[in-house]
This record gives sequence, C-alpha cells and structure tokens, in this order.
Amino acid sequence: MPSQTRERKNDHVEICLKQDVQAKRNMTGFEDIFFVHRALPEIDRDKIDLSTKLFHHTFLAPIIVGAMTGGTSEATKINQNIAEAVQDLGLGMGVGSQRVAIEDAKLECSFSETRKKAPTAFLIANIGAPQLVQGWGLDQAQIAVNMIDADALAIHLNPLQEAVQPEGETIFAGALAKIREIANSLNVPVIAKETGAGIAAEEAIKLEQAGVKGVDVSGAGGTSWAAVEYYRAKAAMDEKGERLGQTLWDWGIPTAVSVFEVSNSISIPIIASGGIRTGLDVAKSLALGASLVSISAPVLKPASKSANQVKKTLELIIEELKNVMFLTGSDNLRTLRKVPLVVTGKTAQWLLMRGYRPETLARQGSKTRQ
Ligand SMILES: Cc1cc2nc3c(=O)[nH]c(=O)nc-3n(C[C@H](O)[C@H](O)[C@H](O)COP(=O)(O)O)c2cc1C
Repeated sequence: MPSQTRERKNDHVEICLKQDVQAKRNMTGFEDIFFVHRALPEIDRDKIDLSTKLFHHTFLAPIIVGAMTGGTSEATKINQNIAEAVQDLGLGMGVGSQRVAIEDAKLECSFSETRKKAPTAFLIANIGAPQLVQGWGLDQAQIAVNMIDADALAIHLNPLQEAVQPEGETIFAGALAKIREIANSLNVPVIAKETGAGIAAEEAIKLEQAGVKGVDVSGAGGTSWAAVEYYRAKAAMDEKGERLGQTLWDWGIPTAVSVFEVSNSISIPIIASGGIRTGLDVAKSLALGASLVSISAPVLKPASKSANQVKKTLELIIEELKNVMFLTGSDNLRTLRKVPLVVTGKTAQWLLMRGYRPETLARQGSKTRQ
C-alpha cells in the first residue's frame, strides 16, 4: 500500500511538471476584481513594509509555498529547494501529504530534510481528511508535526480528487468530528485546507466551530486535480476516469469568491490559494480578507531545478506586490486590507446569488484582520 501511494504521488508531480493541469476557463475570480488607482499615492515605494505576524510568527512577506510533495528522492530535492528559498526570504511553506512517511518511517527523511534547510521558517505539516475517517487520529497528526518540527498542521480536504481518482477514498462521513478531535488537542494550530476546489462559507463556519485556527481556501482557477487525474486515467486507458476528469475539470468555487465569502463568515485567519500567479493576485487576496497567500504550481518547476530558481520566482511576485501596494497608496499590509475594491462580472454575479448585497461587495477591504 505505501509504495502505491508513493507511485501515485510521483505520477502527480510528473503530470504537474509536464502537462497543462490548470483550470481551462482560468477563472479564479481575480480577473473581475479591480483596485482603485491612486494618482497621488503619497508614499515612498522603497519604504513599503510587507511584513505580517500570524500564528506568533513574523513573515517578511505574506506569502508561503503550498503543500506539494514528499516521499521520493525527487520530492526531497523539491522540498529542500523550496525550504532554502523560503528560509532566505523569511516566508513559509507546506510539505506535501506525509501519509507515505507515516505508513513507512524509512521515508521520513524526505520530509525532515525540509526543516534542516529552513531552521526558522514557518513550516506546515500535512495529512488528509480521508485517512482520519479511516482511523487516523491525534497520534498520526503528532507524528506528522514532529517529523518536520512543524509550526502548524494542515488537514487537507480533497473530495474532488478522491472522486475522480480510480483508487479514490470517498468516505468523508465523520471527517469534521476527527478534525475537531485533533484541532482541540494538538500542540500546534490546525489549518483546514482544500486542494483546488474552494471552501464555502457554510463549511468555513463549521471548521471554525470545530476549533481549527486557520482556513486555506485553495479555490478553483489554478491547479485542477480533476485534470491531473484525467491524465492518469488517459495513461491507464481508463475511459471512465478520463470522462470524469474532463467533466469536472473546472469544478469548484473560484478562489476570489471563496476568500470573499469565508472572510465574511469567520474570524480566524484565512490563507488564499488556488491560481495565485502574480503579486497582483496576492494583493487582491489580501484586500479581500486573506491573512496569507499560498502558491504551489508556479514553484514546482523552479523547485525541480534549484533553490535559486525558487527564490527568483518568489522575488518577482513580491516585487509585483510591492508595486501594487505603491499604486494603491498602501505603505503596509494593514492599509492594503482597507483599500476599496471594485467587484465586477461573473464574480459579482456569483456573490449576489450567494446572498451578498451590493453594499457588501462595495465595502472596503477587511478592517479587522492582521
Ligand atoms: C504537484 C502537486 C502536489 C500537491 N500535493 C498536495 C498534498 O499532498 N497535500 C495538499 O494539501 N495539497 C497538495 N497540493 C495542492 C496545493 O497545495 C494547492 O492547494 C493547489 O495546487 C492550488 O494551488 P496552485 O493553483 O497554486 O497550484 C498539490 C499541488 C500540486 C501542484
């Protein structure tokens, strides 16, 4: 069983490196959201402060690299390169699902190397809700945290992926109760994390009530797990899987919509992810109410090469963010979170149909969050 899990994880990384697995309509919702340009920013671009404090940790910019991999020698290299870059830049990262190493301790080093390369960066451990339902609990959560001396634990929610995957684990009944059990006993904050299909207000409220300390919405518009599984099904000549992957390719709540509705429903920190590709997307996420932004797919290829390539990718995004802050007259993230936004098109329609009134859409950015 562990070797099957490892092979599947290998397939996922290979497919994400070689195929186009991005949402076809490419709709994160950010394309419908605009800032108001300030012709008189009245600030000095070089004095902009990008730092933020969250979970008792200071990030030099509000960016982390999202969970991707672990368990193989290629994955070890990828995690090490990301770790080295985020350590240098004062950011954070999540490791991929640690299931393989919990099932087979010999694989632990592919995760634990991450902490060696990033002794002071914010590191997020990762386990999946399907394993919790099948009997995992606090013990496995603690093993995952200890393996990388993590600052937080992400519990991933991936019903779309499990639905499309031929060997998918589709028993989700009881997942919330298990999340509650772990969130209330673990020694580090628990973050509930989707994997590219978004989180709606209703689920965010349940997760907050269950005791999680953060929600990573991981919405639709970026990496599509239906697409990844489509390519696996195609290679295995599994026609049913191919068809399912194609049908559900664009399934999910667009990231901007998810950040908006979750930030209007709960008061714990929100991580925006899913299709964040530029510093402009980062700025929009923060203005919509996110505390941090997480980026995965754009970092994968650079991470397969070197730490320096990862650093360059992230530095470019940080530079873009700084320029957007300049153009909105925001000399720190607190100010950026209060600047006015204009929500148009399908994203405005979506939010109106979800019951948000035009005055809420026209509101200024979140005022209360870090
Ligand atoms: C190759 C790859 C592997 C991933 N593996 C995991 C995983 O093990 N656990 C998890 O929570 N998310 C995983 N994800 C999902 C990402 O963390 C993220 O939520 C998703 O890719 C959306 O972000 P993006 O559009 O920036 O890629 C993976 C993503 C990629 C690209």
